[in-house]
Amino acid sequence: MIMRMSLLSLGFVGALGMALAQAPNGRQQFEARCSRCHGGDATGGESGPNIVARIDGRNDADLGAFLRIGRPSAGMPAFDLPAPEMSALVAYLRVLVPVSNGGPPAEVRKTVQMADGKTLEGRVLNEGMAEMQMLTNDRRIRLLRKTADGRYRQVTSETDWSTYHGDASGNRFTKLTQIDKSNVARLAPKWTFSVPNITQLQNTPVVVGGVMYVSSANEVYALDAGSGRQLWHYQRDRTKGLVGNASGGFNRGVAISGDRLFMLTDNAHLMSMNRFNGELLWETEMADWRQNYNGTSAPLVVGNLVISGTAGGDEGVRGFVAAYEAATGKEVWRFWTVPKPGEPGGETWKGKSGDHGAAATWMTGTYDPQLDLVYWPSGNPGPDFNGDNRDGDNLYSDCILALEAKTGKLKWYFQFTPHDIHDWDAEEPPVLVDTNWQGQPRKLLIQANRNGLFYVFDRASGQLLLAKAFLKKLNWAKEIDKKGRPVLNELKELPNGESYVCPGITGGTNWYSTSFNPGTGLYYFQALERCNLFSKRDMEWEAGKGFMGGTVRPAPDEPYVKSLRAIDIRTGAIAWDLPQADARFPRSGGVISTASGLVFFGENSGSFMAADASNGKVLWEFAANQAWRSSPMTYMFDHRQYIATAAGTSIIAFALPE
Ligand code: HEC
Repeated sequence: MIMRMSLLSLGFVGALGMALAQAPNGRQQFEARCSRCHGGDATGGESGPNIVARIDGRNDADLGAFLRIGRPSAGMPAFDLPAPEMSALVAYLRVLVPVSNGGPPAEVRKTVQMADGKTLEGRVLNEGMAEMQMLTNDRRIRLLRKTADGRYRQVTSETDWSTYHGDASGNRFTKLTQIDKSNVARLAPKWTFSVPNITQLQNTPVVVGGVMYVSSANEVYALDAGSGRQLWHYQRDRTKGLVGNASGGFNRGVAISGDRLFMLTDNAHLMSMNRFNGELLWETEMADWRQNYNGTSAPLVVGNLVISGTAGGDEGVRGFVAAYEAATGKEVWRFWTVPKPGEPGGETWKGKSGDHGAAATWMTGTYDPQLDLVYWPSGNPGPDFNGDNRDGDNLYSDCILALEAKTGKLKWYFQFTPHDIHDWDAEEPPVLVDTNWQGQPRKLLIQANRNGLFYVFDRASGQLLLAKAFLKKLNWAKEIDKKGRPVLNELKELPNGESYVCPGITGGTNWYSTSFNPGTGLYYFQALERCNLFSKRDMEWEAGKGFMGGTVRPAPDEPYVKSLRAIDIRTGAIAWDLPQADARFPRSGGVISTASGLVFFGENSGSFMAADASNGKVLWEFAANQAWRSSPMTYMFDHRQYIATAAGTSIIAFALPE
């Protein structure tokens, strides 16, 4: 009581007191409910972060709405206060933290001496004993390292990893050779960065101009790619009531063009931000999330366009790929992967079944600049396991779509699994390779498909050159005919209505990355030998619900075998195979291969490994003990080659010791 009296009397002289007079309960609210976690002045305490900068970006209504729902999963409770108390509390927070139009919080500015004799002045984004990260007045990020005499030198990346797949071809092959067979045994983690309050990262980091971008649902971190130090962080709340993969809280990556970064929100909006400070530049709603659309993939930049699809393939969206102006977010073209009745392909759907025909486009496509064609993969038709009401091939589900980059016009397509009832999305990377085919240089597109077959196409014409099973266990098709159509096996239904199908639901392989190595002529990917028992049921589409139309269970007493598989692309023959332990829970670790003859991959029991690209012998292992959900990448920073991967909720960047 005495305390409060004295504060009130003080109040008549200071700004704090003025506000207290207007909002007499706000301070008490804060003391009673918030300060034990956020500290008396909101700058952080034992159980809560500094909220000064976070309040700054929210207006009053937004702040009230946030406090009502909190973020309990991250330790921030919900406060459903009566309106007068809430407005008093919010008013008090404004006294603690005045609004500054969303601009940067309290700035620390420094001037440093550079090794070349010049000085550099700017806002300090982060600082360590031997390094500093600065935003200079030209709004550029400078990554600095201290020299022996206490001055600084500027560092950056010499080789970037500038897109989800590293480049437009989708081939995760690198020409970097610093890490090779002779020294890979000494590879060790150089830094890690943990993303707080998420369950898993599925992201492939992108590195441009020394900065690494790491994304999770509705948030992105910019890091110094040489040390993992944070430069900026953008975050907004996740969408409540979302269905589909994005509701699990992950995002597979960002795209960069010039000064801009592009990413999808969980609710299928495309956003553009300034890549140096995370400032939002524009936002376009691609589709209505209430109709089950959601966003998880990394967009692809082609010239002045940003191209993206959406997720929602197990929730019965009507799929599409669309292109947006990088400068404004304005839609330029849209290709629907499920045509309407009367349009070409519309006859491959019975009645109105195409309205929720899915064929979602939930991974990143690839691009050939000479042909100016974009190759986009499409997913399963819906409902996944029940095709009874959608007689026909169900175009353009489970396809590779070759689209003109400027117009979105369909140049050619190939459907791997017509009338799919096993969830065999064609979302595996469509890898573009220029190599000799039967003695002639040829522009190829190769893909190890989820249906268990490996395919080679001429990517200019779409002509199928090779289709060959890469699984030992494959029972759904006898062969692929001259036109590329699978000749089906009669799969007999078991007495309980189930059918036994190989490969199973997660496929012979899946969306994680693959790599063709021109040095060995081999194509590397993770294969899964696994069968399932499928059963179907009738299902009506509903907003906010899944649209699978059945269930799947493991075939009893059958082992699953996950392996890193190398196939000779000329014949489709398996050159070598590296079976992994513990395939009970198949993981999603992708691969990269190097010109120095290595293949890096997330091994199924939790290690990150390097194998000899010519024979599959394991040369290095790091026991990360993670359930892999992403694909690795590589880059050169300050003349050192890094191999980085998302592991659990962290990024680990490996390099050779100095
Ligand atoms: C039990 C501890 C706890 C209490 C009590 C608590 N908070 Fe929090 N708060 C947290 C944590 C932890 C976070 C960080 C959550 C995150 O990063 O997602 C947080 C985050 C926030 C944020 C940042 C939101 C954003 O945009 O990221 C604000 C604002 C906030 N709290 C305000 C308050 C206010 C006002 C009160 C009192 C009414 C309060 N908190 C009470 C733990 C607490």
